[in-house]
Amino acid sequence: MFNVVIFGAPGSGKGTQSENLINEYGLYHISTGEVLRDHIARETELGKIAQNYISQGQLIPDDLMVNILEDLLDQNPKETAKGVIFDGFPRTVPQAQALKDMLNKRGSKVHAVVGLEVNDDELVERILKRGRETGRADDNLETVKKRLDVYHSQTLPLRDYYTKEGKYHAIKGTGEVSQIFNTIKEKLDNIKNA
Ligand code: AP5
Ligand code: MG
Repeated sequence: MFNVVIFGAPGSGKGTQSENLINEYGLYHISTGEVLRDHIARETELGKIAQNYISQGQLIPDDLMVNILEDLLDQNPKETAKGVIFDGFPRTVPQAQALKDMLNKRGSKVHAVVGLEVNDDELVERILKRGRETGRADDNLETVKKRLDVYHSQTLPLRDYYTKEGKYHAIKGTGEVSQIFNTIKEKLDNIKNA
């Protein structure tokens, strides 16, 4: 398996770069945001719970999120066999710990964390633009500010967590999408072939 965490603030390009990574490495993409939005669209029980948190720009509780991840891995053994791109998970230190345990149980680990680094002004600009273009419900100024606060207080500590594990690779997340992808690919090829 080759497991990559794509890490970064709201709007940093996690989803965009994940698309490229799936094609390049044949990995299975798990975007927790997309999983939750799908539940909201289907009006499932989980969707109703998730909606309350997402609309407030807050994180879904860790235990719930970890169960969702565990189910996704259990239900897709063939798809995840080559490895997974984790997009939007982990988002807290307890989630990172849980991911480590989940992969460990399956005889694997996180191989690399790609951290897309983009300044807050550009993040807000990108998200508001997408909000206008696609109507994504949490892409409005009020919620974006909360999402960024939550990112700084609860998610950014993971940068230190993974740096200590020697797994964090900072990538400049601004500029051309293709150029950013080439930088990521260079890093990942080195790690894969090491
Ligand atoms: P999630 O869906 O993960 O949202 P997010 O982290 O806020 O990130 P986005 O999807 O908005 O941005 P992205 O980094 O994927 O960037 P993208 O490629 O789209 O989570 C949503 C919510 O779900 C959370 O707030 C939380 O409530 C809940 N949740 C999810 N996971 C959870 C977890 N693990 N625990 C608890 N709660 C959880 O790009 C953004 C825009 O910029 C696009 O329009 C794109 O076209 C554009 N763009 C991309 N790259 C560039 C570039 N280089 N230059 C210019 N524009 C660019
Ligand atoms: Mg995304």
